[in-house]
Amino acid sequence: MFPYLRPRRLRRNEVIRRMVRETSLSPDDFIYPLFATFGKKVRKEIKSMPGCFQESPDMVVRHAKDVYSLGIPAILLFGIPEHKDEIGSGAYDPAGVVQKAIVAIKNKVPDLYVITDVCMCEYTSHGHCGIIENGEVKNDPTLELLAKEAVSHAKAGADMVAPSDMMDGRVGAIREALDSEGFTETPIMSYAAKYASSFYGPFREAAESTPQFGDRRSYQMDPSNRREALKEVSLDVEEGADIVMVKPAMTYLDIISDVRESFDLPVAAYNVSGEYSVIKAAAKLGWIDEKRAMMEVLTSIKRAGADLILTYFAKEAVKVLNK
Ligand code: PBG
Repeated sequence: MFPYLRPRRLRRNEVIRRMVRETSLSPDDFIYPLFATFGKKVRKEIKSMPGCFQESPDMVVRHAKDVYSLGIPAILLFGIPEHKDEIGSGAYDPAGVVQKAIVAIKNKVPDLYVITDVCMCEYTSHGHCGIIENGEVKNDPTLELLAKEAVSHAKAGADMVAPSDMMDGRVGAIREALDSEGFTETPIMSYAAKYASSFYGPFREAAESTPQFGDRRSYQMDPSNRREALKEVSLDVEEGADIVMVKPAMTYLDIISDVRESFDLPVAAYNVSGEYSVIKAAAKLGWIDEKRAMMEVLTSIKRAGADLILTYFAKEAVKVLNK
């Protein structure tokens, strides 16, 4: 006991702190989200997400090159189509915006690992993640479309697909469709425990995917539920998910930790748009030290058990790490 035991001994200077540090971040931990839109030479900043852009395929390629040259291994690609319709046909159009962006990126930056977000909400006129019948988001008819979308991303050259819709059975449906088209080696990273979160607000501006009626609570999880996350993850694992994701990250560190404890698959966590924006906004007002807050948040996500972090901070974090 004190005065013999003094934990401060191991905090005396930066060298010893570095030596006993339990958690460290590496560029390999990060996946950087990019937003592909239609057109040419388009690079439009997302107001609520300073430093993030909607970009046409030619500009996405330039951005992808920067990301790769910083040492970030992977991107997550979202698409904003020119036309939206009831059945989100832009999602599985071979000449769709994501498909075009994948081809362009693979052409110029072949070693950058391209993961695609598989969901209907960016492509449907109503902004929901599935097919609507009688005012309800229908599960089973949506599976077919998600499977088509995943296959079309794989055909364009995507390295991995990431379904984010939260329909039941979608991982199995996508696995089956990929396998039957010969994409047996394409992994699935499932948004396994995805909560109905207010922290997606800025993203919906970015992806122009705000639901036109109602909300996503009939398919995304209730933020109050912890045990249910393990059920969701185990279903996705049984259906063939290769990596499971928890989303959001900051307000769900307990879930990340539970999933890490209960499963042996790689665990990813999505540090979502609102989590990025609150730090950006507070920093702009001079209320918080942006770099330190960013590194603290990312470290906490890794400490909780995430192997991979999807984050809009990836480029800035890697710059700090490389210093
Ligand atoms: C699509 C999707 C969303 C996000 C990732 N994929 C939005 C949503 O579910 O409303 C959110 C990402 C973020 O907020 O950064 N379903």
